[in-house]
Amino acid sequence: MCATEYMGNDPEPIPLFEIDWSESDIEAVTDSIQRGGYWAKGPYVEAFEEEIESYLSVDHALVVNSGTTALVAALEGLGVGEGHEVIVPSFTFIATANAVRLAGAEPVFADIERETYGLDPEAVEQRITDDTAAILPVHCYGAACRIQDLAAVANEHGVALLEDAAEGFGAEADGQLLGTIGDAAALSFCQNKIIPTGEGGAVVTDDDEIAHRVKLYRSHGRATTDYFDSASSGEYVALGTNIRMSDMTAALGCSQLDRVDDLIAGRQRAADMYTERFATVESVTPHHAPAGGTHVHQLYTVELAPEIDRAHVIETLNERDISAKVYWDPPVHHTAYYREREETPELPVTDEIADRVLSVPMYPNILEGEIERVVAGVETAIEASS
Ligand SMILES: Cc1ncc(COP(=O)(O)O)c(C=O)c1O
Repeated sequence: MCATEYMGNDPEPIPLFEIDWSESDIEAVTDSIQRGGYWAKGPYVEAFEEEIESYLSVDHALVVNSGTTALVAALEGLGVGEGHEVIVPSFTFIATANAVRLAGAEPVFADIERETYGLDPEAVEQRITDDTAAILPVHCYGAACRIQDLAAVANEHGVALLEDAAEGFGAEADGQLLGTIGDAAALSFCQNKIIPTGEGGAVVTDDDEIAHRVKLYRSHGRATTDYFDSASSGEYVALGTNIRMSDMTAALGCSQLDRVDDLIAGRQRAADMYTERFATVESVTPHHAPAGGTHVHQLYTVELAPEIDRAHVIETLNERDISAKVYWDPPVHHTAYYREREETPELPVTDEIADRVLSVPMYPNILEGEIERVVAGVETAIEASS
């Protein structure tokens, strides 16, 4: 296939992501504001939690102010802390490993496998020690890692399984929604996620004890739940912090979650168009869901063949006003902070995948013409590299 010739007069820049907002978002936030009270812990917080619980069919959803703090709170809830090791991928956003450090434990990096880019269960098994308290896999880009195999490893060794489902809200593995398979999971509602609220996150779990500890941690270890309504300051029974979500943010969460099926369908429609067009472009392999799973395409990411000059592809797209970004390079174990604190582990698959992936614009209402422009840009760059 011959790449479309670039005429240098493309109409509009194509961003990496765009938020799909609606009048109902404005109405919900306005409603919260106009109530004129309870902006910190108003009715939308509980409503958003109930809606997440119902969507995922879990007993507890506890909303917080980011996906990162959801991870820290979940580790606190699981009782993971000083003296513990947590097995994490390095091929992830740095928050996954940082959360482990912030909880006082040590992240231990294990390699990923090539199909899902998630933790390789065999590599994980090799890194388990007497100090391992949890396995913390990431569902990359909106599709499952080998979560059932990882659950089996966690079970066999008696360690906790915490899913980093920041990117996978609404996706399934073998008929189970991501975030409902481990002992607990962390969700993110950051601006480019499936349900964006600006910033935000949640811990989800079926375990009452984990939920109780997360609730304490997110509100200074305060045992009472009516702090803002009561004359008493209440009792403080654990160490905690303030990572609560505001009522206005939760209002946005409720209205976004009401439309989640459409938001996901829009991304899947866009992904199908990309995948159909990339099918005839040699050297490009789109990331896809594993067998028996679904993909919600929080990102649309392709793997470029080793001979392709990725920097040139990005440059070509940028020249055409098209954004593109690498999630994630460098992988976490090569960042300055982690390089300086420990001997760099050998993670050959992580290094190879980090060298070759590229994420292109993806949002629910991206136009077919925009997708065509992206594919044409990638094709042109690839033709120049070969
Ligand atoms: C895999 C992964 N984990 C954790 C996070 C952290 O979420 P947040 O940015 O909401 O703190 C993100 C978000 O970028 C992520 O992609």
